[in-house]
Amino acid sequence: MQEVKGFWDGKKSKISLSVPNLSDDILEKVKECIDTGWIVKGNFVAEFEKTLAQYTKLSEVVTVQSGTAALHEAYRLLGVNTDDEVIVPNVTFIATVNPAVYLKAHPIFIDCDDTLNMDLGKLEDFLKNECEVRDGATYNKKTDRIIKVLTVVHLLGNLIDMERVISIADKYKLKVLEDAAQAMGCFYTTGKYKGNHAGTIGDIGVISFNANKIITAAGGGAILSKNPDLLQEARYLSMVAKTSSPYIYHDNVGYNYNLTNIQGAFGVSQMKRLEGFVEAKLHNYNLYRSLLKDIKGIKFLEFNKNSRSNHWYYTIIVDEEEYGISRNKLFEKFNEAGIQTGPLWGIMSEQKPFKNYQSYKIEKSKFYVKNALHLPCSTNLKEEEVFEVVKVLKEFSRHLTF
Ligand SMILES: Cc1ncc(COP(=O)(O)O)c(C=O)c1O
Repeated sequence: MQEVKGFWDGKKSKISLSVPNLSDDILEKVKECIDTGWIVKGNFVAEFEKTLAQYTKLSEVVTVQSGTAALHEAYRLLGVNTDDEVIVPNVTFIATVNPAVYLKAHPIFIDCDDTLNMDLGKLEDFLKNECEVRDGATYNKKTDRIIKVLTVVHLLGNLIDMERVISIADKYKLKVLEDAAQAMGCFYTTGKYKGNHAGTIGDIGVISFNANKIITAAGGGAILSKNPDLLQEARYLSMVAKTSSPYIYHDNVGYNYNLTNIQGAFGVSQMKRLEGFVEAKLHNYNLYRSLLKDIKGIKFLEFNKNSRSNHWYYTIIVDEEEYGISRNKLFEKFNEAGIQTGPLWGIMSEQKPFKNYQSYKIEKSKFYVKNALHLPCSTNLKEEEVFEVVKVLKEFSRHLTF
């Protein structure tokens, strides 16, 4: 893979890609944790979970240490075992896939479409042509292994068509894992799932509260489901599968994945600001688009019209011929200007630990991984900073002179 110079050299940026937007009330809450000694267990976790459940219109939500931990539990709860197969998108952050591999399952990578979400047409072709349904399950003809789970990601805050996902999964007897790590605050505004939040439609959904997400709990993640039994099992697994108290017995191998009370304090504060963050993201996205509308060779990734998006990342596709310089060169130029941008995550089929796994008709993801770039999009990004980013973009445009 070609090396590109940039933020990853450790240089501090004047304008960051996506940083947390924290308020002072967190200090008071964290002080309360310290003063009372309730730094790990405590009421902030329960309060955070309650507000998450109300917001996403679920009866309960289970918080854990990270989105990755949430995915690890989710794959396990959906019955993924050694030598099972799971279908995953080729364009995503690697944490969508890693937990399935922790469980010794085999991922199958499906290409993206022009929204960067999984291409559901190719998914259907794969299931129709490469798999067979027998004894109430779907088997991969090539390996004769059972395919247990279909994992979809709402990439960049862009909601995938869950109506189609669920109908495909029903036909092929697959459980659906909805990786909504990047999609907190998104919900459908049309169709069968109107009003449903990202992560609440599949068998299990997960959210991440990592520092670069729209809200953060200083790390952390959540497991969402409409199935109370799955949530009870999730809580039990995240608390080392303890069956009795005060005598300590465990009837399974669990994890220590609880969110801490200090993280809960961050979460409670951030939930109060979420709607304001969604508005800020939309405002800056529209501002960028209006300022860049005349630049040839720079195309903004659209957000699907089926939903209220959180506009998590602002992603442009650079057409080197039309624009003047390549995505990699532009990334370097931004870095020189002290502006942190981000190339799209390396695609899963090309990650070293995944090289030997099966992938299906990988075409578009190869194009997008070379040409997509995320622009600064923090919720505290100022208008002057948007102008600075735009200035760099205009400077290298072949069609504009200053
Ligand atoms: C699509 C996707 N899945 C999973 C994760 C993992 O979340 P976390 O970083 O909280 O472990 C992330 C976050 O970074 C993500 O973007």
